[in-house]
Amino acid sequence: MPLIEAKQLKMIYASEGAPTVALGGVDCTIEKGEFVAVMGPSGSGKSTLLQILGLLDRPTEGEYHFDGKSVAKYSDDEQAELRNRSIGFVFQQFNLLARTSVLENVKLPLAYSSVPQKEWDSRAKKLIEAVGLSHRMYHEPSQLSGGEKQRVAIARALVTNPEIIFADEPTGNLDSASGAKVIEILRKLHNEDGHTVVLITHDEAVAREAKRVIALKDGMIVSDTVTVHASKR
Ligand SMILES: Nc1ncnc2c1ncn2[C@@H]1O[C@H](COP(=O)(O)OP(=O)(O)O)[C@@H](O)[C@H]1O
Ligand SMILES: [Mg+2]
Repeated sequence: MPLIEAKQLKMIYASEGAPTVALGGVDCTIEKGEFVAVMGPSGSGKSTLLQILGLLDRPTEGEYHFDGKSVAKYSDDEQAELRNRSIGFVFQQFNLLARTSVLENVKLPLAYSSVPQKEWDSRAKKLIEAVGLSHRMYHEPSQLSGGEKQRVAIARALVTNPEIIFADEPTGNLDSASGAKVIEILRKLHNEDGHTVVLITHDEAVAREAKRVIALKDGMIVSDTVTVHASKR
């Protein structure tokens, strides 16, 4: 059973003038354990697709099954609960809480989870260590570089041990060395820990790290290609 199975997803944003068709009928199936890059020009619908697949939004039309269950049947609360339990997000702008330590930022999603509170610290610390930031545990976001902030965001995305990680241009605000580090962490999550990762990127070099590349244009999938990864050749 695929983790993600979407059929004919449409997203139409009503606006003052003509409505915007952000997604014009997208079919998409993603299996557990895949590492998928989503590419396409600005405005092609990448973020819209990720928001629907990530249960942050609902499509105007179409069917979406997450982990075998039709999402349309969930109430907003149930959908939020499923999202908190099963999905981790990493965004271009990091979205960390200011004036809040790295440790507290990473622990945040646990407040909405069923993980017992006595495990919060150890879980968060383990992940902060995994992204190489043990020495920044009690720093605040303003004291971190962009690359470090994004590694905190990745630790936060992982703290609930989600089924899938969605990253929307996670290297978009980073210099190439920090970006490479972030991609390396995502790739390790996939290669070593078997995590399912869906990564939106503009960067060809980043997309080459993925095993499958979905290309969007004008709200439609124009190609869906499985690549042979260098390390697996
Ligand atoms: N909340 C919104 N309201 C109205 N239009 C939107 C909204 N979000 C996105 N759009 C429009 O939908 C299209 C796809 O946007 P988006 O998914 O953000 O593209 P991408 O991430 O590929 O740059 C664009 O034309 C954008 O302007
Ligand atoms: Mg976008």
